[in-house]
Amino acid sequence: MRDILVVNNATKQFGGLTAVKDVSFSVQEGMRLGIIGPNGAGKTTMFNMITGEYKPTSGKIEFGGEEIQGLKPHNVAKRGIGRTFQIVRVFEDLTVLDNILMGILAQKLRFRPAEEQIYEADEIIKTTNLQKYRDVLGKHLTVSAKKRVGLATALALKPKMLLLDEVMAGLTHVEIGDALQLLRKINSEMGITLVIVEHVMKVVMELCEKIVVLSFGEKIAEGSPQEITQNRKVIDVYLGESKHA
Ligand SMILES: Nc1ncnc2c1ncn2[C@@H]1O[C@H](COP(=O)(O)OP(=O)(O)O)[C@@H](O)[C@H]1O
Ligand SMILES: [Mg+2]
Repeated sequence: MRDILVVNNATKQFGGLTAVKDVSFSVQEGMRLGIIGPNGAGKTTMFNMITGEYKPTSGKIEFGGEEIQGLKPHNVAKRGIGRTFQIVRVFEDLTVLDNILMGILAQKLRFRPAEEQIYEADEIIKTTNLQKYRDVLGKHLTVSAKKRVGLATALALKPKMLLLDEVMAGLTHVEIGDALQLLRKINSEMGITLVIVEHVMKVVMELCEKIVVLSFGEKIAEGSPQEITQNRKVIDVYLGESKHA
């Protein structure tokens, strides 16, 4: 499989703080990659560099063989990178259907009749299991439903690759199981490459084929879930974290 995303020595500094330091990794088309690490490790900053929210201080990011670092977020989205946000953003006074339609309209690819757009939104509603919330306002949704609306809105943009930032946080065990199933479906049936940031190591272990571990902005390990669980540096970082928790 060819690489869809290649991150090459990406660094991001905020004043004197280096949030991400010389991080390199690649993602092959169709795969599920996990990025883990303690709070403040630089995971969200890494995502923000990929999506154009932040311009890297140095380094290169290639998507589909073209350099994208420093592009504006809407241009990155147009090239096929979708994302969800750690803090879910839904329009509180719009229904779930209208939230997703906003995502579809944002495609602005060509004019299409309203019925066609509503059909497409309803397909996404089915995929993300939001049928019973279709006509419910954003402000009345549960955490889990809000997260699925975030995912649905990202899917409305028809991404080739989806970056998911802590989609499991705040969910119950049962909801996490359902979300894992949904992500597998998005990956295998829709063919969307997944890059998942999770604080909870267990979720990533179950879902991802490859894992990148960040700690204090640096990549300290990369490998299969099995390799990662046996990695001394990774064990130390997580043990250290639980000692301070
Ligand atoms: N916009 C910003 N301005 C200043 N510092 C930031 C900004 N964004 C993140 N940081 C800092 O960068 C570090 C990494 O943060 P973040 O990428 O959010 O970590 P993670 O997502 O792994 O918890 C933290 O020390 C954080 O305080
Ligand atoms: Mg984060």
